[in-house]
Amino acid sequence: MLRNTIKELSTTLLNNTEHYNQIKDTVDTIHKHFLEHTNIESLDGIQHVAAVPTASGMALSLNHAAACLIDYHRTAKLLKGMVTLIQEKQQQYPNETIHIFYAGCGPYAPFLTLVAPLFDASEVQFSLLEINAASINMAKTLIEKMELTAYVKNYYTADAVTFQIPEAKKYHILFSETLDALLYRESYVPILWNMLPQLSKDCSIIPNNVIVQASLTFPQKETEKTRQEKEVATILNVREAVQQSDGNKPLPESFEPITINLEGNQRYHTMIVDTKVHINNDIWLTRNESSLSIPLEMEIAYPLDAPNVTFFYQLKPSVELKLKN
Ligand SMILES: C[S@@+](CC[C@H](N)C(=O)[O-])C[C@H]1O[C@@H](n2cnc3c(N)ncnc32)[C@H](O)[C@@H]1O
Repeated sequence: MLRNTIKELSTTLLNNTEHYNQIKDTVDTIHKHFLEHTNIESLDGIQHVAAVPTASGMALSLNHAAACLIDYHRTAKLLKGMVTLIQEKQQQYPNETIHIFYAGCGPYAPFLTLVAPLFDASEVQFSLLEINAASINMAKTLIEKMELTAYVKNYYTADAVTFQIPEAKKYHILFSETLDALLYRESYVPILWNMLPQLSKDCSIIPNNVIVQASLTFPQKETEKTRQEKEVATILNVREAVQQSDGNKPLPESFEPITINLEGNQRYHTMIVDTKVHINNDIWLTRNESSLSIPLEMEIAYPLDAPNVTFFYQLKPSVELKLKN
């Protein structure tokens, strides 16, 4: 039975969050089962590879959203974070069913299909939302094939940036991995802006936060051994920035700019911009561990054209980190 096979693989993954080869083999096996049961590979047509516009960016195509599964450390760490959080909520709310709102489930809805088999349907209930109709239809088929329909309360085909969640206060967890490195194009920030004021204050979010951080490396003429690095600015702390959202304020055009001054005695070699993804508790995606945490590295040329570098996170017309000229 597919559900039991996935339950075993999911348990293996939870018990091995350190060893890359074991994580890779387990996720590849899960992927093979999902491919077999969804026939994704036999799909053709532009609708399966074209990104879908949202109110403030782009959502991944069905094929690209499916491929997120094989971002190995991402999947293993999100799974660990999700299962741990459900267990914490069970402690906090004994005898209550834990309600999870899953915004952006993609075609495999992995944080339902890998998680639900570990619990009883009386313990966890999911509501799924996805902007891409082809993806949510496929998730529904997979959930049916895995005999997990008893775990699903609602399917919504809608844009999470504008969606009004029915019975929003009942949810204990919002899961939305709608991210890319540097928070480029995908809607994590506007989704939180829209959804956080609707949810209960005690509702936990996975990923819990994203911090875009600038660092400088030195000395200018580097060798690998002597290269040092210092953090110089937090360009964006998403959870702090979305605190301004009260359910009435529209999404701003952009968040406050941050300026980094490069003058001084020290000459730098490069500036690195990291996307630090905090999943929950002590679980983070570290630099280069996932496609979401690939850093941007820019060489600093001397003499400096301008002493200041100013970054800002644009929200309209589409989400994107920008450099001010
Ligand atoms: C990075 S994929 C992750 C898929 C899956 N949850 C996983 O973790 O493997 C993000 C998914 O969110 C969907 N998505 C992105 N923006 C959205 C939005 N504004 N409203 C609803 N769904 C969205 C995309 O279509 C895509 O399927």
